[in-house]
Amino acid sequence: MPTTCTTERPAQSFAAGAQVPAELFDGLGARQATISPKFLYDALGSKLFEAICELPEYYPTRTEAGIFARHGREIAHACGSGATLIDLGAGNCAKAASLFPLLRPTQYIAVDISTEFVSESLARLRLRFPYIDMQALGLDFSSGLELPDSVRTQGRLFFYPGSSLGNFTPPEARAFLTRLRKSCGDDGALLIGIDLAKDKATLDAAYDDALGVTAAFNLNVLRHVNRLLGSDFDVRQWRHVGFYNEAAGRVEMHLEAASAQRVRWPGGGRDFAAGERIHTENSYKYRQADAIGLLEQSGFEATRVWTDAGCPFAVIHAQAIA
Ligand code: TRP
Repeated sequence: MPTTCTTERPAQSFAAGAQVPAELFDGLGARQATISPKFLYDALGSKLFEAICELPEYYPTRTEAGIFARHGREIAHACGSGATLIDLGAGNCAKAASLFPLLRPTQYIAVDISTEFVSESLARLRLRFPYIDMQALGLDFSSGLELPDSVRTQGRLFFYPGSSLGNFTPPEARAFLTRLRKSCGDDGALLIGIDLAKDKATLDAAYDDALGVTAAFNLNVLRHVNRLLGSDFDVRQWRHVGFYNEAAGRVEMHLEAASAQRVRWPGGGRDFAAGERIHTENSYKYRQADAIGLLEQSGFEATRVWTDAGCPFAVIHAQAIA
């Protein structure tokens, strides 16, 4: 029996009567256990990810920001002004906000699965840009992109930075982009940041940093799951594993059981062997031509590509093809 019984069971964070995330049960019950990466982003997870973006090892945020800084005018020219800017996975809204002076959107829609976090971010942003019509949307856009009528249908510019596309498998990415294409209407476009394949040492360090912030971020998913399911994962019994799988072209994130253990939740549970892993995320790293191919297969035409010569990363403006 466990000797430390001080862990309080936090209140479940889904509304009473709401469906318990079935995909969590399915994932944890699968032979290769998985937890969908979207559960990484509870309130603390969103803050830990902000911290990851400050790490010297985590180059994507900085590299992308550098591309925007260097080519901002051209990017703004390709996008045109007065758009409805729809920010997918807006988080603290900082990336989009830094582009407002360049892109001059008339409407800004901040979409994020972490409803509270994005709403608070937007409340602050409204004070800085009172002339932009802003709405926060708490939405799991990975499973659907139902936008309310208040979102203008003309001049939509979807903003999908940070290489989040890499968190889908390539077929999932194609399906997602195809849905996005449908939501573009006749004149919509996409401004997307995609991380490109690079040397293993850089990638390994970016996803397993020296301070252990990435480890904390990954492990925090277990606490979020405990709140959602009423499970009793003991974070101290797990360790973060993150590495570039060169053959598969992706970084893989796992949580590895430090000891054999039983994890319980109401109505069930699972035994994990020492060393057994829960797969929490993939981060695919594309070659530029493959990224463009993926966009084309999904009904977009890549009109412009901006890259960083030193650290391969692409910002792409893609127009929806009629
Ligand atoms: N979308 C980010 C990426 O793929 C998310 C991320 C960064 C991440 N570090 C992580 C997810 C560590 C899980 C674990 O780059």
